[in-house]
Amino acid sequence: MDYSIKSDSPEKLSTECLLLGFHPKRKLGPTASAIDEALGGVITRLLKRDDPEGKPGEILTVNLLPEGKIERLILVGMGKKDELTVSSYRKALAAAANALKATGAKQAVSVLHEADIQDKPLAWKIRQAVELTESALYRYTQTKSEKDQPKPPRLEQLQFLLDAESDVEAAESAIKQAQAIASGMKLARDLGNLPGNICTPTYLAEQAHKLGKHHKKLKVKILDEAGLEELGMGSFLSVSKGSREPAKLIILEYHGLPAKVKPHVLVGKGLTFDAGGISLKQAGGMDEMKYDMCGGAAVIATLGVAAELGLPLNVIGIVPASENLPDGAANKPGDIVTSMAGITIEILNTDAEGRLILCDALTYAKRYDPVAVIDTGTLTGAIITALGRHPSGLMGNDDALCESLIKAGESTHDRVWRLPIWEDYQEQLKSNFADVANIGGPDGGSITAACFLARFTKDYKWAHVDVAGTAWKTGNEKGATGRPVPLLCQYLIDQADAA
Ligand code: BES
Ligand code: MN
Ligand code: ZN
Repeated sequence: MDYSIKSDSPEKLSTECLLLGFHPKRKLGPTASAIDEALGGVITRLLKRDDPEGKPGEILTVNLLPEGKIERLILVGMGKKDELTVSSYRKALAAAANALKATGAKQAVSVLHEADIQDKPLAWKIRQAVELTESALYRYTQTKSEKDQPKPPRLEQLQFLLDAESDVEAAESAIKQAQAIASGMKLARDLGNLPGNICTPTYLAEQAHKLGKHHKKLKVKILDEAGLEELGMGSFLSVSKGSREPAKLIILEYHGLPAKVKPHVLVGKGLTFDAGGISLKQAGGMDEMKYDMCGGAAVIATLGVAAELGLPLNVIGIVPASENLPDGAANKPGDIVTSMAGITIEILNTDAEGRLILCDALTYAKRYDPVAVIDTGTLTGAIITALGRHPSGLMGNDDALCESLIKAGESTHDRVWRLPIWEDYQEQLKSNFADVANIGGPDGGSITAACFLARFTKDYKWAHVDVAGTAWKTGNEKGATGRPVPLLCQYLIDQADAA
């Protein structure tokens, strides 16, 4: 899809489809009014005739305009003018993108960004529009046969109409950022949606490798099980022992600055299928555990975005990739393994495997002398109980780092909510036989998972983002969401801006 800026006057405007916002009581913004006037008041007449309320996301599609230069019109309810919020604006944009997709238009012009949304600048409004349009146009095709494929959208070009005074440069850079992030989200969604028999640890590693081939400044290294053995990653390897697919440690190194500059390190859980191991999960809904690599996919995708945007930063991505299956060689409850850090772990539940693969990756992260380390993954069902499916769970050992993630999440609407990881919770991880147990009982399950990881991250600033409730949707709309790609990318963009 091509996105660009258009700066025609309303009278000269010609397009296959115009996207235009309206508010309750038929109120229009200044550009919309000017266009209405140029069209001889047809928009006001249509609104009077059909009398839509103007609720956010309400759509009135007019598929034929006899006047000619503007062939179709999509009128988008924006809600009350002075009550527009980020959520209602996003709702309106998503509905508009879906309505646009449903027309046969190949080209469209939007003026939806003329609405005032809290204190958001034009660049933000354009970024949201591009990201939401791309996400509405997303189709999963890889494993559907030709005749069953969803039809590709005909839309090829969306233009944002700006007046002369607007900051065209800011708008153009917003388009560039949004397109890079949207393509990162698409990669993360594709990888997440692929089934476990295709998206194996080896496949994930190949995809990372491919990404490295595409970007000159992105180096990709893959460690196999022999390499993990040498590093002493006994915890990570114990999870993959029960699987016939060999584990991989995927390492992506992006250098936007000289190598001596400290990097930001991102670590992502790449569990390509989680059956629970010997502590087997119940059958219902187990297919969704193919998404247990979404944290890893987001890290791989984010490194691609950093390279695409040429961010002036150094960024390292580390993705431990494995399956978790029951098998004669699998971890058993009560087994004790030794992590790379030398900490011994009693595995009381083999289904708490995410922390077992992440802890060794987090120890590995130390060698980069990082500015900060952020790990992410689908760690606990408990985070869905605690927070629902809107924010991801955030925990960490550094307030400033957590604050920057909260801010990045708010600005991209890929939000996080912080939970405490007080020392008091560590009690729950006591083991009679090892240094630490891998589960902390039924109370505060997401927090004790993070408390487990905290034992391996004492040497640097660290945050943990649990995306079990946000990385995919369940039910009718089952599928990967591409989160937390926007969060991680925005965090990096903010870091680059601050430097
Ligand atoms: N991958 C799951 C977490 C998960 C559960 C993600 C549901 C999305 C939806 C993780 O490996 C897991 O099984 N966690 C256990 C931890 C428990 C055994 C302490 C869980 O949440 O039940
Ligand atoms: Mn599990
Ligand atoms: Zn898991």
